[in-house]
Amino acid sequence: MESDLSLDFLRVVEQAAIACAHTMGQGDRRHSDQVAVEAMRAVMDTVAIDGTIVIGEGERDEAPMLYIGEKVGMRHAKRAIVHALSPRPVHFDEVDIAVDPLEGTNLCATGAANAIAVLAASNKGGLLHAPDLYMEKLVVGPSSKDHVSLDAPVHENLKAIAQCLDRSVEDLVVIVLDRPRHEKLIQDIRATGARIRLIGDGDLSAGISAAVVGTGVHAVMGTGGAPEGVLTAAAMRCLNGEIFARLVVSKPEHEERCRAMGITDFKKVYTSKDLAPGDEVIFAATGVTDGALMRGVRFFGDGTRTSSVIMQNKPHQIRFIDSIHVSASKDVKIQF
Ligand code: FBP
Repeated sequence: MESDLSLDFLRVVEQAAIACAHTMGQGDRRHSDQVAVEAMRAVMDTVAIDGTIVIGEGERDEAPMLYIGEKVGMRHAKRAIVHALSPRPVHFDEVDIAVDPLEGTNLCATGAANAIAVLAASNKGGLLHAPDLYMEKLVVGPSSKDHVSLDAPVHENLKAIAQCLDRSVEDLVVIVLDRPRHEKLIQDIRATGARIRLIGDGDLSAGISAAVVGTGVHAVMGTGGAPEGVLTAAAMRCLNGEIFARLVVSKPEHEERCRAMGITDFKKVYTSKDLAPGDEVIFAATGVTDGALMRGVRFFGDGTRTSSVIMQNKPHQIRFIDSIHVSASKDVKIQF
């Protein structure tokens, strides 16, 4: 990419988070998602890119915007917008984009922790076009990534992670989505003595926590969405953690959907380099509700405060950004 787009993508996730944070606790997950999508889509047009959505809200007939294949960015915006924002000719980087305008729709609708607005971007072809199927996942941090395997028994993986982190298995915390399909997995983890944090939703922010030292999370195990898997992979490329993942292809209809996206090896174990192979990867997320790494959106009289993370592999940097979006009032007061 010729331009540094990180701060532009920051604006995109910030505005999506602010929009849906207004709906927190209202109990309407669809509405929360819809306002996040609309805000994200609108800001995307102000970014000087020639973008294509590769992971989005679904196929064109299912989603009115941010659908897979949709062209986004200033290159495709209405002429008037382009001229107002940039009267001189601009270069538009060609980028592929994966979005989840509101990851954890239920979390936002109920005011629970860890809802985020998120996107990943890469040079053309840099993010796998994954079907919206389930994916088996194992996410770990940098210390243990070379010592675990998706196919190893749970007790072996946990023993290896504990050794790499120089602690006993009983001191590990593993995040698992609280779903009936994970009954056996939960039993297996419990049998090792490791501690478990069951979550209602949001295995993407859980995966990020597993790759950051000091969060108190050491692994994520279990089956979640494949789109979230691709976004997790983009974060892992920047955090030096790892995701091991395999699509759950259990019906002929799943096979067809994979083939339509060019996937023929249904048993392949993907790593972050397979799911987000781009030379340049950017990952941006803003907290909607409070979470381990980011606080949720806070509205105060004179504006709005957001907490975000922007990660890039080139230049390799991770930025935690606390923004105050100041209101138009004359008598504004900013608090540290
Ligand atoms: P939404 O953002 O669409 O609500 O999905 C949240 C999520 O919990 C993901 O984090 C996870 O990968 C997936 O849903 C799990 O799917 P399911 O709820 O069908 O088990």
